[in-house]
Amino acid sequence: MPLSNSPAWQEFIAATRSAPKRGEQLRLISAPGLRLDLSAQAYSPALQKAEAALLAQQGFDAARARLFDGGNANWTEERAAWHTALRAPEPPAMVAKAVLAERERLREFVRKADAAGRYGCVLHLGIGGSDWGPRLVTRALRHGGARREVRFASNVDSHSVADAMSRLDPHDTLVIVASKSFTTTEPLANAEVAMNWLRDAGVADPIKQVVAVTANVEAALNLGILPDHIFQIWDWVGGRYSLWSAIGLPIALALGNDVFDQLLAGAATMDEHFRTAPIEENAPVQLALAGVVNRSVLGYDSLVIAPYDSRLYHIVPWAQQLEMESLGKVATADGSPAGVPTGPAVWGMSGTDCQHTFFQWMHQDTAGAPVDFILCEQPAHAYARHHELLIANCLAQRSALLRGKTYEEALAETSATESDPERARLLARHRVHPGGRPSSLIVLPRLEAYTLGALLALYEHKVFTQGVIWGINPFDQWGVEFGKALAKSIMHELDSPQATEQDPSTRYWIDAIARRSSAS
Ligand code: F6P
Repeated sequence: MPLSNSPAWQEFIAATRSAPKRGEQLRLISAPGLRLDLSAQAYSPALQKAEAALLAQQGFDAARARLFDGGNANWTEERAAWHTALRAPEPPAMVAKAVLAERERLREFVRKADAAGRYGCVLHLGIGGSDWGPRLVTRALRHGGARREVRFASNVDSHSVADAMSRLDPHDTLVIVASKSFTTTEPLANAEVAMNWLRDAGVADPIKQVVAVTANVEAALNLGILPDHIFQIWDWVGGRYSLWSAIGLPIALALGNDVFDQLLAGAATMDEHFRTAPIEENAPVQLALAGVVNRSVLGYDSLVIAPYDSRLYHIVPWAQQLEMESLGKVATADGSPAGVPTGPAVWGMSGTDCQHTFFQWMHQDTAGAPVDFILCEQPAHAYARHHELLIANCLAQRSALLRGKTYEEALAETSATESDPERARLLARHRVHPGGRPSSLIVLPRLEAYTLGALLALYEHKVFTQGVIWGINPFDQWGVEFGKALAKSIMHELDSPQATEQDPSTRYWIDAIARRSSAS
């Protein structure tokens, strides 16, 4: 039976629509490393009951158990999705030896580099899940003092890797080629540029300054990378869920093994919370349910993530891949469509910059979008007053989105300054804020490895829970393959002109570029 026709879904819709006005009562959930404020989300005892029934109908408990036990969570690829094993203090027996061995290899590599004072710089070449996680964490935590300059290059556009290499010392740079498949165009193309860069700088044996992080060890060996410079990851962890593996090497090189351990510990504690907390006190589950209400019942097309902390700037693209590559699909386990709106578009920006960029739209557009605000109670700087301003702005934006401004309130404002009553009425029309706009607030005591690990695991489990509710697989990404295949066919045409079937515009540009490259 399609989800949309199921009794629990019908009850869920009815309870959502009859829920009282948001914001009437404080609704706070404490979880490891953070507190979640859902006061501005739909809530009622009836809705909570309907949500529990919906989770039961969708087999949430069994699905969650499969996730933690290494069961077939990624059913279209017949794989586990065992990112929780990567950060478990005691990984499950089936993978414990491999996980602990690679974790220790990573630590030992960092210890040796530190002891030898090697690699003042790191050039990390990966893309998607092999880039966003390490990039987010190193940028977020380097305020505490980084031991190494870590640069990231992901795009196949060589301007990107050139920019990343600028002013690095080739003789003191470690190149990390991070690719789970070791077939992705971008990191391999960038590895070629990096190797030439090392060679052109006179580095005696460039390959000795290259390490690989991959599930495809054979491909890394074929590239000439030394066996003890290859860190293994596994196909039972999805790329966008892999920063807890050796993909996190740049984090440990930049910030130290202890920081990486704290990151894992924060995520592992959130795992335990997700696994054991009662549904109504379970932060990932409640954040997931609020998102399903907003997306599938209230019809919001997107979700804004607004970290009111500039160190978390990269949480937006990290979450975009996590959420949109996991939930941007409609096919359920039996291939039938979910029948309800699924994964929202995710976008956003750090606050307070977002207020000066798109919050006009948030306040006065026809619909607007739900917002996840993220705040840290304690700053890591000495300007306490500025941190108060940051917090005040975050709370003010939430409040304005929720309460709105009525015509009467606006008219009282304009009448106070406009002597012409008709003009005052006109201007008031332009100052009405619909209000009633949902948001969640996630508050960390401070930004450190432990709290950041907990925050990222919160989102991973939220996405998983939404996948269970919608009946879709959050661990595959068939939608990224078609574009890659077409790019390969266009490259073949550029290399050896053959008139394949293309739309007129693509045909025009292939011919134009082919003409230009043959003329050069
Ligand atoms: O974007 C598609 C994708 O397969 C992601 O899922 C993945 O994180 C990224 O490409 C990089 O893949 P790899 O780590 O295999 O190079």
